[in-house]
Order: sequence, then C-alpha cells, then structure tokens
Amino acid sequence: MSVTILDHALIQHKLTIMRDKNTSTYIFKQNLDEIAKLMAFEVTRNVSLKDKAIETPVCPMVGKEMDQQIILAPILRAGIGLVDGFRDIIPTAKVGHIGMERDEETLIPREYYAKFPSCLDAADVIVVDPMLATGGSASAAIVNIKKRGAKYIKLACLVAAPEGIAVIERDHPDVDLVVAALDEKLNEKGYIVPGLGDAGDRLFGTDE
Ligand code: PRP
Ligand code: URA
Repeated sequence: MSVTILDHALIQHKLTIMRDKNTSTYIFKQNLDEIAKLMAFEVTRNVSLKDKAIETPVCPMVGKEMDQQIILAPILRAGIGLVDGFRDIIPTAKVGHIGMERDEETLIPREYYAKFPSCLDAADVIVVDPMLATGGSASAAIVNIKKRGAKYIKLACLVAAPEGIAVIERDHPDVDLVVAALDEKLNEKGYIVPGLGDAGDRLFGTDE
C-alpha cells in the first residue's frame, strides 16, 4: 500500500477555507469541487494509455488516449461531494454508490445502499470519501466493493487520521491511498483533529 499526501499549495489553501467553521455550505462545496479536481489529476497519474492516430494541423501523429474504465465509488453521503470534481476531469468515469452507516450498538458499519456499473472487475475503482477517521466506513465499503468483483481499488480522501490510515493498511494492503491532508489524531467522539467537523453536515447544511 502506498500513501500519497497531496501537499500542493493550492490544496492547502482551499482546505484551510473548508476547515474554517465560518465557511458557508456554498463555499465549502465550491472548494471541495476544486480540490477534487486537483486530487483527480494525481489519482489518475498512472492510468493505462493506448496509442491514438490523429492528424494535427501540421502532420499525422500517434497520440495517447485513456485505455482504462474508471469507476468512482462515493461513500454516502459525504463522498457525493467529491464526485462532481472528479467527473469534470474524468468525463468517461462511471459512478457506483455505496451507503455505509454504523450500527449504534455494535458500531459495526452496515451497507444500506449500493448500485454499481457491471464492469467492476476490469475497472480502476476510486473510492472517494472526504473523511478517513477510524477507517471503519472505508474499510467496510472496500470489503463490499471487492465482494462485487473489483480488483483494482484506490482510496481518495480529503482529510485522514493516522488511525484510519493504519486500518486501511491492515485490512487492504493492496489499496493505494491518496489524501490531501494527514491530521494529528481522533478525539473521543471519533472526529478528526483539527479536521473540518462533520463533512456531510457541512456539505449539505444539515448541522443547524
Ligand atoms: C463520515 C465520512 C466517512 C465517515 C468516516 O460519514 O463521510 O464516511 O464519517 O468515519 P470513519 O472513518 O470513522 O468510519 P458519516 O458516518 O458521518 O455519514 P454521512 O456521510 O452520511 O454524514
Ligand atoms: N466523519 C466526519 O464527517 N468527520 C470526522 O471528523 C470524522 C468522521
């Protein structure tokens, strides 16, 4: 497993706007869209290419085109917030949704919704979720996506805690992880510190 931390100046700048508790839902989503585009650029760095013969205005040449189906897999609900930015950069991407929620008694994440394109086994699947906290939701989502046949999986998160990274490393050593920021720790409620709060609430305005 590789862990890539995207410390690009633009990402750090935009993420600071998102972390600020005074940032509105609208500006939060706008910056998430912009960071998602920058993340998509990095996550797709090594995607397979094939030759494509074209003619420029000057002469014929053999260029390159993508030779890999990409499936974005947002973990509901906050993962939806990363989809628009990724799709702007990868217009041929398909999208499979997976909803995970924790059983309040056992704390075990449970899948409550899933709908995926049929070509999972041959595709590059990019699981997206803004927050990797305990890692429970992402790990369980990846288990279930693997059960549906996916073989090539990456995980892209905005903010990660060391605890969550350790869980993905333990459960899915075959999954490469790309994050925009590695934060300090989790607090007693399982929130990332300093983090940005509840990503879903901030994205959809459900915290008032
Ligand atoms: C958030 C976030 C992740 C999860 C991370 O979702 O979007 O899915 O928490 O926490 P974990 O690493 O400890 O599992 P949440 O459960 O708040 O649901 P929501 O997206 O519906 O708000
Ligand atoms: N889920 C969130 O939305 N934020 C956190 O800090 C942890 C889990």
